[in-house]
Amino acid sequence: MNSDKLIDALFTQGWFVWDNFLTSHEVSELKACIPTDWSQAGVGRNDEYMTKKAIRSDKIQWLQSDMGPPVSDFLQRINDVRLEVNRHLFLGLFEYEAHFAKYEQGDFYQKHVDCFRGQENRKLTTVFYLNEDWQPEHGGRLKMYDLDDNELATLDPKAGRLVVFLSELFPHEVLPATQQRFSIAGWFRTNGVNGNQLDIAR
Ligand code: OGA
Ligand code: MN
Repeated sequence: MNSDKLIDALFTQGWFVWDNFLTSHEVSELKACIPTDWSQAGVGRNDEYMTKKAIRSDKIQWLQSDMGPPVSDFLQRINDVRLEVNRHLFLGLFEYEAHFAKYEQGDFYQKHVDCFRGQENRKLTTVFYLNEDWQPEHGGRLKMYDLDDNELATLDPKAGRLVVFLSELFPHEVLPATQQRFSIAGWFRTNGVNGNQLDIAR
């Protein structure tokens, strides 16, 4: 079962690619929920919060559970993942926040780590892709590195694919897309008390 593979991969290497996390029918229903109003994505938080187009040029919209059943079904599936991970890896994952992201032609997100400096509160990252018939020439690949800057994987943002990784250990970037690219990026946080560290050998 894929959730066993997820647990095993997170334990041994800290990341996992889950293809067909949703069926193509579910993906198209979710795609129909993509909002029409978007904000320029920011970098940093609170008073540091800035939109920095030099670092990322995508636009985002935060997921709300009242965006419709496809969105709440997706959040339910993600919650199942949370429960499995907590049951087996004791990460103490608690809240989940996620946004739709839209990359237009030429948009990118430079290499970064998904937790705010000085605050190790994002524990596990999920990225789900909504792009049917994505071709290599469409670019927009997710490139993952380890903390020693070794390249680990270069992944097409293809429909139904869920990428999961420990937020603090894997710098990553989105290479420029040559056509419109949609994803849902999300992060589990801990409640600050029960979180265990997974020490991945590197
Ligand atoms: C992010 C991110 C990756 C992707 O939004 O933090 O790294 O493939 N997204 O969309
Ligand atoms: Mn990221």
